[in-house]
Amino acid sequence: MEKKILVSRQFPDKGIQLLKKENFHLTIWDKQRPMTQDELIEGAKTHHALMCTLTDRIDRHFLEHCRHLDIISQFAVGYDNIDVALATRFGIPVGFTPDAMSDATADIAFGLMIAVARKMFFLHKTIIQGQWGYFNPTGNLGMELNHKTLGILGLGRIGVKMAQRCRNAYDMDILYHGRTRNMAAERLLDARYVEFDDLLLKSDVLSVHCALTPATKEIFNGSAFKRMKPSAIFINTARGPIHHEKDLARAIAEKEIWGAGLDVTNPEPMQPDNPLLAMENVCILPHVGSGTIEARNQMSVLAAMNIIEFYKIGQIPHIVNPEVLKR
Ligand code: DGY
Repeated sequence: MEKKILVSRQFPDKGIQLLKKENFHLTIWDKQRPMTQDELIEGAKTHHALMCTLTDRIDRHFLEHCRHLDIISQFAVGYDNIDVALATRFGIPVGFTPDAMSDATADIAFGLMIAVARKMFFLHKTIIQGQWGYFNPTGNLGMELNHKTLGILGLGRIGVKMAQRCRNAYDMDILYHGRTRNMAAERLLDARYVEFDDLLLKSDVLSVHCALTPATKEIFNGSAFKRMKPSAIFINTARGPIHHEKDLARAIAEKEIWGAGLDVTNPEPMQPDNPLLAMENVCILPHVGSGTIEARNQMSVLAAMNIIEFYKIGQIPHIVNPEVLKR
């Protein structure tokens, strides 16, 4: 294929090899930093397609300069970095990589839940700081998770995997809220759909698995945290802007909730002096939910296949805006 593809980062080789086998001309950004938006625009101007990821800003400014693109193939399940409505208006199809990282991300949510319940990251730091101390029968106490209630915001692919883990390991009751009912999960997991307010009031662990949209932006704010149980654990592995970070820190400091496990922060990257990092009941990771060899390989394959099939047969197996191809 004579088509030229700009690849905005060093994605795993599996997908890249598939593209090479089809003889696409690839320009792969190989610096140890992401492309700036100006670099992305300048690069994309001379290419037919773009393979990009969640921190590349594909907004109005980008799209107005690059409306010639045949396809944007996003290496991620989330695509809130892309102005999809405008891409659709310009007739640019957007591919994405759903499900490849569902197990990996659910593992991180599950791991953070246990880590927060047992103050793991904080206790690890005490050793580094030479403060192991002594065996104190009443010190550093965490909490158990057996038979607790798990609340999920957004019971999609990743939310279901998190719910399964919590059900199997701790026989947790599952409540959920979201844009759509998941009847299969209701049957499989005895999950119960509740209003958002009930999710806040009744969850012992509240895990976020929804997309970032205008409706979910900072939905976890001061007033939401105030309605949660003082023993509640808040987990966010979806997108940082779904929670208001200062409100979260205040809610934990004032013991309105027990603690939080975050794989995503608001903003990213989190600064090292962020007060949340010093809190006992807080565990934070640098957005590594999909960070397994298996998941990232599969994401690269899906992102590559979206481009290959688009040029070969005019179809995109995983497409965000299918209406573009129907025109
Ligand atoms: C995604 O795929 O949207 C993840 O956030 C990337 O790890």
